[in-house]
Amino acid sequence: MKTTVPASLFYCPYCQSDLIIQDKTWRCDGRLHQKHICHPFDVARQGYVNLLPVQHKKSKEPGDSAESIMARQRFLEQGFYQPLRTTLIGMIEQYLPKVCDDKKGLWLDVGCGDGYYTDAIAHIQEIPRLIAIDISKPAVSATAKRFKKQSKLWWQAKSNQTINNQKHAIEAEAPLPTGIYPIVSSAAQLPISDGSIHGVSSIFSPILPDEFARVLQAGGLLIIAKPDINHLASMRQELFEQVRSHDSDKFLEHLSTDFELLATEQVSSQLALSASQLQDLLTMTPYSYRAKVQRRQALLAKAQISPFITEAKFIIYVLQHH
Ligand SMILES: C[S@@+](CC[C@H](N)C(=O)[O-])C[C@H]1O[C@@H](n2cnc3c(N)ncnc32)[C@H](O)[C@@H]1O
Ligand SMILES: [Zn+2]
Repeated sequence: MKTTVPASLFYCPYCQSDLIIQDKTWRCDGRLHQKHICHPFDVARQGYVNLLPVQHKKSKEPGDSAESIMARQRFLEQGFYQPLRTTLIGMIEQYLPKVCDDKKGLWLDVGCGDGYYTDAIAHIQEIPRLIAIDISKPAVSATAKRFKKQSKLWWQAKSNQTINNQKHAIEAEAPLPTGIYPIVSSAAQLPISDGSIHGVSSIFSPILPDEFARVLQAGGLLIIAKPDINHLASMRQELFEQVRSHDSDKFLEHLSTDFELLATEQVSSQLALSASQLQDLLTMTPYSYRAKVQRRQALLAKAQISPFITEAKFIIYVLQHH
């Protein structure tokens, strides 16, 4: 498997010409545009780049709302889903060295949300470059802020690399700066060149088999995390008259043309939640708007009296692109 990163990793979502990465504004080279117009994409103050063209937006503010992202961040930072994060990282660390050379992995986290899992993936030694994509601007903004604080964004890492480059001359081998690239984009139309990525993760996020197969190198990894059967069962019993069981592996059929399933792992965590923690959990999941208001209020009232007990159950899939 080739492990160098193509010079033109990103392309313009309007004219598909190569995108030139610069500190303040990314610009396409306009080569494929009829009038050779170079489209500009400003780097936001928080450090992300918006590559979602207006025509790909199905609503004014697509994806998770700022409120939902903030609730997710508060909830996750309390460590409730830490066992899932630890297992996920263990699985990437186990399988990635089999598909790419020493410490040169280029990873794509699709539907990154507030960046809780992305952050842990970015700590994996084999992954010096990571693209974090979400269709929600508040999500990508939160992810960018998280990495900016750690000085890990591509343009922050770049200034360190200029010094390193002189010492180790790594530039010729890998022209793309190392670091994190937070990008607003739809997973359905990734502005990323064919066969360039070593691994994709989709953690409770959309799964687009054709698009993932297109951007992955042959042999590349796809890691998917989903709620397992009986995920938050006691909470859903309180909210709904009829509880639908999660159909965990139907999507595997759609992936079978391009991917082979290598492994699965189940993870669970016992949760004892205060009313405010439960409120955040409801806000970050689809349950909050699907459930009747009275039922939701009754559930929160219970948690005011004593912690609400429920069990989070997840399943992780490791797949390999043929
Ligand atoms: C359930 S959240 C998961 C977030 C994060 N991976 C986590 O587990 O904390 C799903 C995320 O997918 C994003 N999303 C939904 N549709 C998308 C699309 N078509 N392309 C990219 N992201 C999308 C949402 O904005 C949201 O942030
Ligand atoms: Zn363009």
